[in-house]
Amino acid sequence: ERVKTAAGLEKLVLRGQRNCSVEISLYGGQVTSWKNDYGEELLFVSSKANFKPPKPIRGGIPICFPQFGTHGNLEQHGFARNRLWTVDDNPPPLPINPAIKAFVDLILKPSEDDLKVWPHSFEFRLRIALGQGGDLSLTSRIRNTNTDGRPFSYTFAYHTHFSVSDISEVRVEGLETMDYLDNIKGKERFTEQGDAIVFESEVDKVYLAAPSKVAIIDHEKKRTFVVTKEGLPDAVVWNPWDKKAKAMQDFGDAEYKHMLCVEPAAVEKPITLKPGEEWKGRLALSAVPSSYCSGQ
Ligand code: BG6
Repeated sequence: ERVKTAAGLEKLVLRGQRNCSVEISLYGGQVTSWKNDYGEELLFVSSKANFKPPKPIRGGIPICFPQFGTHGNLEQHGFARNRLWTVDDNPPPLPINPAIKAFVDLILKPSEDDLKVWPHSFEFRLRIALGQGGDLSLTSRIRNTNTDGRPFSYTFAYHTHFSVSDISEVRVEGLETMDYLDNIKGKERFTEQGDAIVFESEVDKVYLAAPSKVAIIDHEKKRTFVVTKEGLPDAVVWNPWDKKAKAMQDFGDAEYKHMLCVEPAAVEKPITLKPGEEWKGRLALSAVPSSYCSGQ
């Protein structure tokens, strides 16, 4: 289903069972809404978000490509999140899981202007799929289409913003004992302690070689998000807390209490593709009721 947004841009809606749905903005190739069976929103989007160029949309799942953060000379998080993507109406017959209820393939190719800042020809195919049980998956396939034999390297992240009831009541499991880089502290490497991660101040960390499954446990909502990643070694965890929240124009002062970013990523070691080579990186999300027995 294709609809026009208030900003005059196009958005796509995928519908699943009951009230499950996913909304995707062609601007950014960005998921901006993911709702469960009851129609409850599972992603955070700022009430102050701008939905039109040139700024990226604050919330949902921005795609950071070909650069994560400030790890290079490009604008923060690369340009993919503020470009117009197109829909592939005749997607190739890639293997499809029978549990998939609806999907769409978006394509991004560099414009003349993009080639000036990042001189590489590529095709980025982003498949967004809504599965049985309301699971959401994003599969990125990036191909080097340079015709002059040059390889290219990039860093990448699915900058996923989860909606949480109260950040002080949330814990993240799966990243304990991991090594990480701390964007607040500089280039040093740190090691996380043995406990689940909780939030009491600003956090901006890149967990290195993180496990393929990370859980976000929201006590108050009695909900657990399970984040599964493939082809993406790292996991970024970000919450700006009060001071940084105030400094961001497109972010409400108190909204940091209701959001958490856990971002499957490839940050520390850039990915290199030779001409003709393709890389695949996948994110799968599910939201499940936290079980009674585990004491939550
Ligand atoms: C996170 C980074 O992924 O994104 C943070 O680790 C950054 O350093 C945050 O502040 C938000 O970035 P932006 O460009 O969307 O404001």
